Amino acid sequence: MQDFIFNISTKILFGKDQLKNLPGEIKNYGNKVLLVYGRNSIKKIGLYDDIIKLFEKSSIEIFELPGIVPNPRIDKVREGVKIAKENDIDFILAVGGGSTIDSAKLIAVAAKIDSDPWDIVIGKENPKDAIPIASILTLAATGSEMNSGSVITNEETGQKLGWGSEYARPKFALINPEYTYSVSVYQTAAGTCDIMSHTMENYFTLNDGAYLEDRFAESILKTCMKYGPIAIKEPNNYEARANLIWANSWAINGLLNAGKFTDWSVHPMEHELSALRDITHGVGLAILTPYWLEYCLDNERSEKIAEFGYNVFDIEKTESTFEDAKKAIESLREFFISLGIPENLQKEGFKKEDLPIMARNCINNRPKPEINGFKNLKEEDILNIYKMAF
Ligand code: NZQ
Ligand code: ZN
Repeated sequence: MQDFIFNISTKILFGKDQLKNLPGEIKNYGNKVLLVYGRNSIKKIGLYDDIIKLFEKSSIEIFELPGIVPNPRIDKVREGVKIAKENDIDFILAVGGGSTIDSAKLIAVAAKIDSDPWDIVIGKENPKDAIPIASILTLAATGSEMNSGSVITNEETGQKLGWGSEYARPKFALINPEYTYSVSVYQTAAGTCDIMSHTMENYFTLNDGAYLEDRFAESILKTCMKYGPIAIKEPNNYEARANLIWANSWAINGLLNAGKFTDWSVHPMEHELSALRDITHGVGLAILTPYWLEYCLDNERSEKIAEFGYNVFDIEKTESTFEDAKKAIESLREFFISLGIPENLQKEGFKKEDLPIMARNCINNRPKPEINGFKNLKEEDILNIYKMAF
């Protein structure tokens, strides 16, 4: 196990009766709040009205940035920065899923610099400070509420890029599983796959001696596999929604990669899918992951993939680790398909000519011309995986 520092400062307020604590938590930081949210969902579930009423009662001044869309755009961030600067906003509250929280994070740090927010995403400018931010999470998927990362799309350059800074880490997250009852079957499935992908990106490494992290990871995967299907069939099942959303937070907050070297492989490949065709992040991940594992499968890696099969899918051990690994990958694919995920990229509207463009962009958007994850991937490997998934 490698050396590591583990420090998650985000306070979690979890459960059905936490909203009453919101004004008090906000007042620890400020009183002029920019409320960042998506399109209709928070109004439909009544959460928007509840927040506004609470703010009025607590004399919190409210400014609003509605209309964040999935695969959130830089233009909307620019709009938020303008509101924040013109009104001396001293706190940002994101209410929604990952797209909303990711936008709020960039607004928070970009409001403290003079240059364009995109400069932060491309690493031309370093965050030096931030308006404190927090979130009310309404969808179990990205774990953005408890980490320091964010992913933003620039339609002009055709890029969807991740960036991160400790300044952007939310001060607190209010997580009420009931707010996720209204999440559609499609988004519940996509979110479950996203949580599983975060877990697997951290899990699939070689010989790092991080035994404990891998057992944590297997528990998170099993939790998703138990409760994802239940939440799809019974949207108002509190136990299912609660376990899924808590798994979401722990899959990507630093716990699973503590002591490990991880260079995520499927996420950069997926970000090119949603940059080009605006598809749902979790769906893209679920299509690619089994093909990626098939591409990785060789004598060196079969043991780890087989272990995943034994511990997560209860696959029976045979004399052939290689065959067991294949069964593990097939079980994963079957699970994703059982959630309604299409098995290939064509079904998501991709064309053959998209594949080399995405493989090139995937490499061009990285500091190094390869991905050094479970298996090293160069441009031609990425293209091969896209072709398999096509
Ligand atoms: O716009 P509204 O009306 O709010 O609808 C949203 C949106 O259409 C809807 N939704 C959210 N909560 C709901 C709800 N519908 C009904 N009831 C509710 N309670 O769900 C749709 C998707 O929302 P979005 O925020 O886009 O989903 P998600 O949380 O999956 O976020 C995806 C984005 O996060 C990035 C992805 O790349 C993608 O851009 N990621 C961010 C990460 C991070 N910051 O750590 C890591 C991830 O790997 C990921 O890359
Ligand atoms: Zn993800």
